[in-house]
Amino acid sequence: MLRQAALILLLLCLPGRYSSFLFAEDKIVGGPYAVNVTGKSATIGWVVQSGEVKVGDARVVPVLRSEKVTMTGLKPGEPVKYTIPGGLTGTFKTAPAKPVAFEAVVFGDTRTRHDLHRKIVGAIEKINPDLVFHTGDLVTDGLDTEQWPRFFDIERTLLAKTAFYPVLGNHERNSRRFYEFFDVSTPYYSVDWGGAHFVLLNSDLGNSALSAQAREAFWSEQLRWLDEDLAKAQKAEFRFVVMHHPPFTAVKSRQSGNTPVKAMVPIFEKHRVTVVFSGHDHNYQHHLNNGVHYVVTGGGGAPLYPVDAPIEGTTIKVESTEHYVRLLCGPGSTKIEAIALDGRMLESFELKP
Ligand SMILES: [Fe+2]
Repeated sequence: MLRQAALILLLLCLPGRYSSFLFAEDKIVGGPYAVNVTGKSATIGWVVQSGEVKVGDARVVPVLRSEKVTMTGLKPGEPVKYTIPGGLTGTFKTAPAKPVAFEAVVFGDTRTRHDLHRKIVGAIEKINPDLVFHTGDLVTDGLDTEQWPRFFDIERTLLAKTAFYPVLGNHERNSRRFYEFFDVSTPYYSVDWGGAHFVLLNSDLGNSALSAQAREAFWSEQLRWLDEDLAKAQKAEFRFVVMHHPPFTAVKSRQSGNTPVKAMVPIFEKHRVTVVFSGHDHNYQHHLNNGVHYVVTGGGGAPLYPVDAPIEGTTIKVESTEHYVRLLCGPGSTKIEAIALDGRMLESFELKP
């Protein structure tokens, strides 16, 4: 039963790969968590608070540092167990190489109402998904060091037993913290998991660079990459996209702006994307446009928005409630379930390759 056995990785025992230790005043305030998980490699990350800075008389800001270790040589579709310095443990599964059944969860917009964020995470934990995708706006201000320990505290036990794939929301403000914590080299990338191809994008054009010229360059390069990446993924049973801003929304106040993500719609259609998952609007929405499903899942705790303007001929289901979305994926079909915080099924639909 070697394939069933967990691979024990004692990170302190990996000579030459990792050489960190905890000082007496250090405490772990985030993680551990597994990111960048593929069939053969993964990064284990955690966040250490090494002290505090007093600001004025009342404010105390933690000093944080990001720790990580990247492993290669893993085997596809196998459980991995790890222990980080300080003794905290975690587990995850590597990506299967062939189409097999797996479970994923997509949720997002967890930046406020932390009691509800905690309840949503508790509900997701019971499912024990292989992968968790966060549609962005993890915190209210990604530049504010104080906010990250609270996010990691709420998500601690979930992140310790799954593979985590967050995308940038506008509230992360393109913060270096996001890149450091989640070991992100470029904010758009893709991963193959069983028979599914997942694409993660940075839809937050406004914070992507300082100058208009640099923002334009970033955007056109991301679009070029997206076109190329999806073209190479045509053999996958399913192609899923995760990004923060939705191309279609039933929130009236959000319909007037010319959102840049509209430029991605022809690329999604051309390459037969199965579902585009977004957040940003704090509710549940399901639209179908030219064969591509668009699911908005922004029900992770941020204040709810009304769904007051369904799009005729496109909108299938809307509801303004806290929720998460579950994917029971492959082989041969994918079931999508939108589940409210009280356990009520908002919607369930099945997709074929
Ligand atoms: Fe947002």
